[in-house]
Amino acid sequence: MATSSLLLLLLLISSCIISALLPAASASKTRHFKWEVGYIYASPDCNEKILMGINGQFPGPTIRAKAGDTIHVELKNTLHTEGVVIHWHGIRQFGTPWADGTASISQCAIDPEETFVYRFRVEKAGTYFYHGHYGMQRAAGLYGSLIVDAADGEEEPFRYDGEFNLLLSDWYHQSIYDQMVGLSSNPLRWIGEPQVNASATTGRNPPPTLLINGRGQYNCSLAAHPVEGSNACRPTSKDCAPVVLRVLPNKTYRLRIASTTSLSSLNLAIGNHKMVVVEADGNHVEPFTVGDIDIYSGESYSVLVTTDQNPSSNYWLSVGVRGRKPKTSPALAIVNYRPNSPSKLPESGPPMAPEWNDYNHSKSFSYRILARRGAPKPPQSADRRIVLLNTQNKIDGYTKWSINNVSLALPPTPYLGSMRYRLKNAFDAGMPPENFPPSYDVMRPPPNPNSTQSSNAYVIGLNSTVDVILQNANALAVNVSEIHPWHLHGHEFWVVGYGDGRFGEKEVARFNLKNPPLRNTVVIFPYGWTAIRFVADNPGVWAFHCHIEPHLHMGMGVIFAEGVEHVGKIPREALACGMTAKMLMDKHRP
Ligand code: C2O
Ligand code: CU
Repeated sequence: MATSSLLLLLLLISSCIISALLPAASASKTRHFKWEVGYIYASPDCNEKILMGINGQFPGPTIRAKAGDTIHVELKNTLHTEGVVIHWHGIRQFGTPWADGTASISQCAIDPEETFVYRFRVEKAGTYFYHGHYGMQRAAGLYGSLIVDAADGEEEPFRYDGEFNLLLSDWYHQSIYDQMVGLSSNPLRWIGEPQVNASATTGRNPPPTLLINGRGQYNCSLAAHPVEGSNACRPTSKDCAPVVLRVLPNKTYRLRIASTTSLSSLNLAIGNHKMVVVEADGNHVEPFTVGDIDIYSGESYSVLVTTDQNPSSNYWLSVGVRGRKPKTSPALAIVNYRPNSPSKLPESGPPMAPEWNDYNHSKSFSYRILARRGAPKPPQSADRRIVLLNTQNKIDGYTKWSINNVSLALPPTPYLGSMRYRLKNAFDAGMPPENFPPSYDVMRPPPNPNSTQSSNAYVIGLNSTVDVILQNANALAVNVSEIHPWHLHGHEFWVVGYGDGRFGEKEVARFNLKNPPLRNTVVIFPYGWTAIRFVADNPGVWAFHCHIEPHLHMGMGVIFAEGVEHVGKIPREALACGMTAKMLMDKHRP
């Protein structure tokens, strides 16, 4: 090699080192992505199916940005016959409510062959994700990670030597169309549990699987198809190779864990290792040490793990189901202490998960999540309280989920545009109920299960402080009350209280207003209640719903609208679905 080129190489290397040491001068960037959503063949659990991928990938590409950056995603729909949208879960969309990616709420579904540009700022470092928000497209595999690092010159209040990203999901062999038809049939055909046992294969729902980063291992000996040809189950497919976390001994790693499951509540543990919880939904929490964590659909956590165990062994990381009878095998990944071979089997078996119905274990985990010292406190009082009773009901014999006896039915024209331009009859007028009858017994099935469907919305005063009490109750069957993780769009809320049974006025005095955690998703436990407080400071129309995909599909959500008159210029494609803006205006003359 000539001396001059050697010199050049040296210069290049030294300039790399310098740029790694000095923070970049320019603070925030715009990050551009060009994505195409389409069906692809994939074998996430070794069994080949079609699923919704992005640019041919499943899960979709990871977005990595820094706090303060602008994300610009040009999304083209290449599905043949249906619309699509993508929601950026945990991103507040402050000032860009039309980029929230909720069909019928913030925008029209993007038609086949059409493109929509999502452009928004990511304000806060944290672990987030994105997913489809039209019909049950999330359950079809339309999701991926969105990781926001601290802005240049800023630091997170904990140290680590490396990090891993684990996006958890559950996967059904049944198509989402099959699932949706089943859910809207009378009698209801439930989607079933993600399950791996032989008897399950004789039912109509082939057993689904838990996935870590889109990979899981279905027992191919139970599969309906041979190991050759299309739709085959191939245990050797590279799509379903277990995830390996390659670590060095005596280091600390950050595990970013997010759940985008359709149904399952999960528990995650690593054999022999403790975890220190440091982040929940993009907010720092007061660090605490646990042996396992619960994670509900819509939540994200960061935990720190120190590789202080016998370095000659590998260890299992195991993810199992909570709150529903475990018919599903845990998903496993390998923590591979280098230089061991990743295929060296761990010496001890996968960590024991707590019993599926050990709710006290789950509650004590949830109650330990508190804001990190120094975090801003919530307003000390609220302007309004909305109590939301969660029940299962019937409408004309069809099973639904209802909130204060109203099951959400989304309108054809998105609320954001129809409210902003005061269109007439675009959705049901009138306010949905703010409470439920004092005589209602939350411990028993609804005495009169008949419910109604509506598209009405809660209109909230801009900048007001709102308390929402999520009250769980008995479902249609006796002695059944389920877990529901509730997710709020456009805001974060403080979790100010939890309790068992029916919420009572005296609980208000016991709210934690000192160090409640700030989150975007929170669980309600069976027969319990959860209280949250938020400031309605983001003009727009926002969904607040159970993050269990089939529950939302069956009406388990409400709509909050605030300060819509302050919303800026809504992109034309978000306004009028399948018609021009003029046609829309003519149809709903204000
Ligand atoms: Cu991640 Cu409206 O949901
Ligand atoms: Cu639910």
